[in-house]
Amino acid sequence: MRVYKFDEIDSTNKFLREKEDLQDGDLAIAKIQSAGRGRRGNKWVSEEGAALFSFAVKYDTLLPEKEYMKLSLVMGYSLLKTLKEIELLNYKFKWTNDIYIDDRKLSGILIERVGDLFIIGIGVNINNCKFGEAEDIAISLKSESGNTYDVEELIYKIVKNAYEDFYRFVAGKWDEMLKVINQSNYLFGKRIDIVGIGKEESGIAGEILEDGMLEVFVGNEIKKYNIGEIHISKK
Ligand code: BTN
Repeated sequence: MRVYKFDEIDSTNKFLREKEDLQDGDLAIAKIQSAGRGRRGNKWVSEEGAALFSFAVKYDTLLPEKEYMKLSLVMGYSLLKTLKEIELLNYKFKWTNDIYIDDRKLSGILIERVGDLFIIGIGVNINNCKFGEAEDIAISLKSESGNTYDVEELIYKIVKNAYEDFYRFVAGKWDEMLKVINQSNYLFGKRIDIVGIGKEESGIAGEILEDGMLEVFVGNEIKKYNIGEIHISKK
């Protein structure tokens, strides 16, 4: 594993994406990001005290291409598992891979693909108790538990488990993971707006399904939505 540490960088995802000799196991860690990126082009507030890192995982050809749709969920599952090992709090898994506590976002994951490598970018609010523009919607481990954590140690633990869980996924352990994320399914039973499929729809979220899609009850119909296909806004 090659580790690249920065006191400040624009984005650890961007750093790996632009790295010419990027390889499986490369890990970039930053104390602060000046241009942290979230999904759908959103900004990721990157305050000191948060875990801000990205690592590269090689596409395993043992796994059929369509199974990679679930990678996002597998990484979220793995992060949830590691957080539980660190501090037992009332975490919720928000499809497709955010972790929430008390209706506030604790972590987010941005996955990008470069050739046969996936860049997994993770931001977790750890010791930071300020969230900038995200003040009203964010939470950190410290603001919830009152404890202070060794951020770097925690990052290594998350990364180690992420690689192990990726290989467990390749080895066919998806069902176990699906069970765990459904047990903490944040959206279950909530009314959600589904944006990004042409017209906006509203429905009640159900389970995360075998194929990684989200079941939504829209009027009398049961619909399935794909990862990346929609954006959810909770009512
Ligand atoms: C999201 O929920 O929108 C995803 C947020 C991902 C943020 C992390 S922080 C480390 C890595 N570098 C980035 O620029 N983004 C990811």
